[in-house]
This record gives sequence, C-alpha cells and structure tokens, in this order.
Amino acid sequence: YVVKMVKICCIGAGYVGGPTMAVIALKCPSIEVAVVDISVPRINAWNSDQLPIYEPGLEEVVKQCRGKNLFFSTDVEKHVREANIVFVSVNTPTKTQGLGAGKAADLTYWESAARMIADVSKSDKIVVEKSTVPVKTAEAIEKILMHNSRGINFQILSNPEFLAEGTAINDLFKPDRVLIGGRETPEGMKAIKALKDVYAHWVPEDRILCTNLWSAEVSKLAANAFLAQRISSVNAMSALCEATGADVSQVSHAIGFDSRIGPKFLNASVGFGGSCFQKDILNLVYICECNGLPEVANYWKQVIKVNDYQKTRFVNRVVSSMFNTVSGKKIAILGFAFKKDTGDTRETPAIDVCKGLMGDKARLSIYDPQVPQEHIQRDLQMNKFDWDHPIHLQPTSPSTINQVIVASDAYEATKDSHGVCILTEWDEFKNLDYQKIYNNMQKPAFVFDGRNILDVEKLRKIGFIVYSIGKPL
Ligand code: NAD
Ligand code: UGA
Repeated sequence: YVVKMVKICCIGAGYVGGPTMAVIALKCPSIEVAVVDISVPRINAWNSDQLPIYEPGLEEVVKQCRGKNLFFSTDVEKHVREANIVFVSVNTPTKTQGLGAGKAADLTYWESAARMIADVSKSDKIVVEKSTVPVKTAEAIEKILMHNSRGINFQILSNPEFLAEGTAINDLFKPDRVLIGGRETPEGMKAIKALKDVYAHWVPEDRILCTNLWSAEVSKLAANAFLAQRISSVNAMSALCEATGADVSQVSHAIGFDSRIGPKFLNASVGFGGSCFQKDILNLVYICECNGLPEVANYWKQVIKVNDYQKTRFVNRVVSSMFNTVSGKKIAILGFAFKKDTGDTRETPAIDVCKGLMGDKARLSIYDPQVPQEHIQRDLQMNKFDWDHPIHLQPTSPSTINQVIVASDAYEATKDSHGVCILTEWDEFKNLDYQKIYNNMQKPAFVFDGRNILDVEKLRKIGFIVYSIGKPL
C-alpha cells in the first residue's frame, strides 16, 4: 500500500511562520515543510547564515532541518499546490484607513493568500489559520475558498499561536497547550485529527485542546487581552505605589502568592509593547462594538489607555525630575526592543518614550544589543500603525536625525549624558560597570529604570539619583 507523505506549506515566513515551521520540521522528520513568502529578502535571509529574526535557539533548529525537510522559498504557488496542510501566518496589522481605521484588523494579506490558495489548488487541502484574526474570519475564508474552488474540498481550522518572542523555541518545544478549532462535521473532525497528529509528534495529547472554530478564534484574542490586562493592572498599581511609598515589587510578590492570581507576568514596567497586545485588543474592541457591546468594548479599551498613561507618566517623570527641562540635554536610552532577547521593535514602548523626550528637545543616544541603527532611525520617523504596512516613509526630517544618535555600546551611549533610561530588560544592563558610567556622566547623574532591573541601593551609593517604576524614592 502507498504511504501518503504529509506535506505542509506555511504562507508567511515571519516571527511566527519561521520558528513554528522549523520546530514542526525538527519534531516530524517524516513531514516535508515549506515556508513561503512574497518577500524575497526575507526568504534569502532564512536561507543564509544571518536569519531574519533573532530568537535564542532558532539557528540550531533551522540548521538541523534546512535542506532536509525544511525549505524556505518564494515559489509560493508551487508549494501551496503540493501541500496537504497549508498554514497561513501572514501579518494582520491594524487598519490605517477606511472603515475601522485605527482599530480593526487589516485582512488584506489574509484575503490575498486565501484567493491564491483557491486559484492554485488542484487537490483537497486543510487550511489553517495561524495568524491572529477577528472571530468569524474562518467563515469569511471558507466563503472565499468555496466560491473559487472548482470542486476542491477545503477544511478550515483555527490553530492560533501562543509563543512569545525571545522564548519562541522553548514555547514551541513545550507549549502550555495547542489549540485546534474546527467544524463539528465528520470532515471537520477528520481535519482536526490530521493536524492533531502533527503536534502529537511531541506535544502530550492532554495538552492538545480541540474546540469549535469560534472558540479557538476568541480564545486567542482573550488570552492576549488577559495577559495585557495583567500588565496594565500592575502598572496602574505602580502609580499608586509611587504616590504612597509602597513598593510594587513587594505588592506583586505578595499578591502572586495567591494561587488564584499566580506569580508570573506581574512585572511593572514602562508599558507593554510588541506587535500583538495593542493590535489584538483594538481588534477585540472593534468586534465588540460591531456586535453591539459597547460596555465590553470600553472595558478592554481601558487596558490600552493605562498602557499609554504609563508611557506618558515615565516621560513626565524624566522631565520633571530633571528640573522640568531636558532641552539640549543628552539622555542615554539603554534598550530599544520591546523586550529582551529579541531584535523586534514593533510597538516598543521605547518609540513613545523617545518621541516624548524629543518633544521636549532632548538629545538621545540610543543603544540596543540587537536592534540595528537603521531600524531605530526608521521607527522614530514612522507614524503609529505604519510599521506593519508596506512602508511609505515621510522624507527624513533633519531635526529627528540631529536629535538621535545610535551608539555601539552602553558606555558610549551614556558618556557625557545627564540621564540614563533603561527601556529594555537586557541582562547585560544588569552587569554594567555603573561606577565607570557615573564617572563619565554630567552631574547630578540620573537613572530611570523603566524595567526595575537595577540594584537601586548600589547605584545610590555610587551617587546616582535613581527612579524606578512603582518604588519609593
Ligand atoms: P510578520 O510580519 O513577521 O510575518 C508575516 C509575513 O507574511 C511577512 O514576511 C510577509 O511578507 C508575509 N506575507 C504577507 N502577505 C503574504 C502573502 N499574500 N503571501 C505570502 N507571504 C505574505 O508577522 P508575525 O509576527 O509572524 O505575525 C503573523 C501573525 O501571527 C499575526 O497575525 C500575529 O498577530 C500572529 N502572532 C504573532 C506572534 C508574535 O510573537 N509575533 C505570536 C502569536 C501570533
Ligand atoms: C505575547 C504573548 O505573551 C504570547 O502568548 C502571544 O502569542 C503573543 O503576544 C502574540 O500573540 O503575539 P510577546 O508580545 O512576544 O508575546 O511578549 P510578552 O512576553 O508577552 O511581552 C509583551 C510585552 O509586555 C513586552 O513589552 C514585555 O516587556 C511586557 N511585559 C511582560 C511587562 O511589562 N511585564 C510583564 O510582567 C510581562
């Protein structure tokens, strides 16, 4: 008898598509995995020694499988045609124009991928939503596929991704759960089983959850909303702590001991960033509004408002503590990525903080171990929400350029500065020679620790004036 080999194709070789497919290839040597993208430079990078994204452990996984059962290609149509299972992991950014601008998810990339699948397919396929999408997207995709299919049978599954950047490989190796939503028909159940069999190569069965399509789609939005809400909750408390003499780390520790609350994800910060929390909550808010649920929409909107408030509060604190002006002063920015162990800057709080300080005419000297200079300059010139769309940059504003320099290490960035802002919790910032930094700074020397990673006592002994998030002065 003939053993039918499973072929997987993933459309979208980004932060999700690349690592997820690399891990599937590693764990399922009998499955051939092709990751395709319309972006030629991105595919070239995946095929080179310099992968397009920085993610601990990723390179090892890619090196083990690339060219064996893992392929990166721009020949989108060929690989889609040959696949039994097609993952779609394209970007789903916030719309910038038209109906729902500034809130709704832009499904242009998704729709064009779906139409292409319908166009090129010659055999039945399972189409898997990997991107984060509004609930009911599967229905829209079904319509596009079915009305263009010429008799081919498509089953749509929702299989949202829960990995976090910086820990993607670990999260994929040992996921808390894998979620698969599908139609509750015999064909739907068969499709769910086929995808379950892929994950079952390495994920314990009791961690693979199967639901209907809409539950899976809503669960992804719900998970991100709950996670972001935790950060806004602890950040809101940090403001109260600063006003009262409480210490937010002690508060987090104390409430985290309650097993119903739990200790993780309670670090107060300068605000959450990343490509997804804000986008997905805005999307959730929009869906609630469209479904006639303004109270629910407003409830979740508040999570973003508190996050914006936290970033503004940080900027105001820097300016007000430095005698109400930072005009012409050199401020060192340590960390630009939205969290440690990634080079990703999408929606990083550093952008808003830097723009806020530049608004007060500060001169910024920025250092991040993983973010290249061009990205920093680009991000500081871009409008909100433009980052995930084909880039139409405004002509470079000379004042921005003059106000920002990118340094090649923390010592260069802090030299002659009046203040230092820690905006990303990179481990290397914990172990810098702060005495040396202090010696080379203007006095009084200020430190604003937006991530609460520094030993405040030690810095105060050196002579720094230190501000942390949610801690007594
Ligand atoms: P990304 O921008 O890094 O990657 C998307 C890729 O899709 C890009 O390389 C783009 O060129 C490609 N693409 C767009 N349209 C295409 C088309 N028609 N054909 C072929 N390729 C196309 O995005 P990402 O961070 O990987 O996110 C993808 C999705 O996963 C989003 O919906 C996001 O919300 C979700 N998600 C992201 C994360 C994360 O940590 N980044 C985690 C979970 C879920
Ligand atoms: C987040 C979720 O954690 C993932 O489960 C989800 O798959 C992903 O979004 C997504 O859908 O894109 P990610 O944004 O990569 O992952 O990173 P997180 O670790 O969640 O951090 C998000 C932001 O919150 C960062 O800016 C981080 O610094 C901040 N944060 C996190 C805090 O300020 N405090 C914390 O306690 C935790």
